[in-house]
Amino acid sequence: AKKVLLFGDIGIDDTIAILYAYMNDDIDIVGLVADYGNISRENALANIQYVRSLFDSKEIEDVQIIAGAEIPMTGEPPVYVPEIHGEYGLGPIIPDPDGQDGISENFHDIVEIIERYQDELVIVNIGRLTSLATMFLLYQDLMRKVKSYYIMGGAFWVPGNVTAVSEANFHGDPVAAHLVLSNADNVTIIPLNVTQQAIATPEMVDYIDQVGDLPIVKTLLDYYYDYYKDRDPYIQGSPLHDVLTLMAINQEDMFTFQNLPVQIVQAREGTERGQSIADIRPYGNMGAEAEEEVRTHRIAFGLDYPKFYTRFMTVMSGQRFE
Ligand code: BDR
Ligand code: CA
Repeated sequence: AKKVLLFGDIGIDDTIAILYAYMNDDIDIVGLVADYGNISRENALANIQYVRSLFDSKEIEDVQIIAGAEIPMTGEPPVYVPEIHGEYGLGPIIPDPDGQDGISENFHDIVEIIERYQDELVIVNIGRLTSLATMFLLYQDLMRKVKSYYIMGGAFWVPGNVTAVSEANFHGDPVAAHLVLSNADNVTIIPLNVTQQAIATPEMVDYIDQVGDLPIVKTLLDYYYDYYKDRDPYIQGSPLHDVLTLMAINQEDMFTFQNLPVQIVQAREGTERGQSIADIRPYGNMGAEAEEEVRTHRIAFGLDYPKFYTRFMTVMSGQRFE
């Protein structure tokens, strides 16, 4: 199984991604860093505890939960999105706020996890990039030992979901997004280009509810779909941004990729805050000097939906969908 250190802002699709990992023997989450984002860091931590409480199996108790960032590197107070993820980030569910045992407030515990697993470790970031960027600020050499990075974020030549051009994780902390993408190698970016195709329809959710044994899935995705349906009556279901990103770590055949240089607009205000720009011109090097080494990242632009559908449904309903 792939060893995964997950950085997230534990809203609805983050939670579905964690459930997918728990249901899937190929993924072993060894640590969970909870940041502000969809909701506050405190709510994100409580949500992880709540999800863990749904499973009574031993190996889940061993997952280390670490408190991450409370505000973005830009310094301003975060803007939460209760209308999408619910007041506490779990749709209508109000998790027990006292369930804070087993949470580490020691950010250095992240270092120990990375030192333990090194080039066996895959880091998956499905929230704002503030805590991950902090690791690059403090531990450059250590971060180079990590096998690979999978980042949910960005929108390339497609509309954003916060502004006309910007996606939520990069918009939430554009300084952090820039910092990670200008320092990390072996990065795969899973942008809105593919995550908005990774739709869970109400029929899929009802089937999982009938034959699976995770009633929280319907509770969460019905709430999530209500938001999207109110905005776009023609949408067929709700986008599972974070689930698709976690699936990408060992199911790369679901995607088509391009390796391109990426720039993040670090404006604090305005439509272009957090915009992700890639240079797709054959001679493109994002304006770097001729002799300058240009860092590129692997970006997913195409998704094989039937593969996503079959594999997601198989894991979440415990059935075989061939
Ligand atoms: C991303 O932003 C968050 O709201 C979701 O959980 C996902 O990680 C989508 O833009
Ligand atoms: Ca998220």
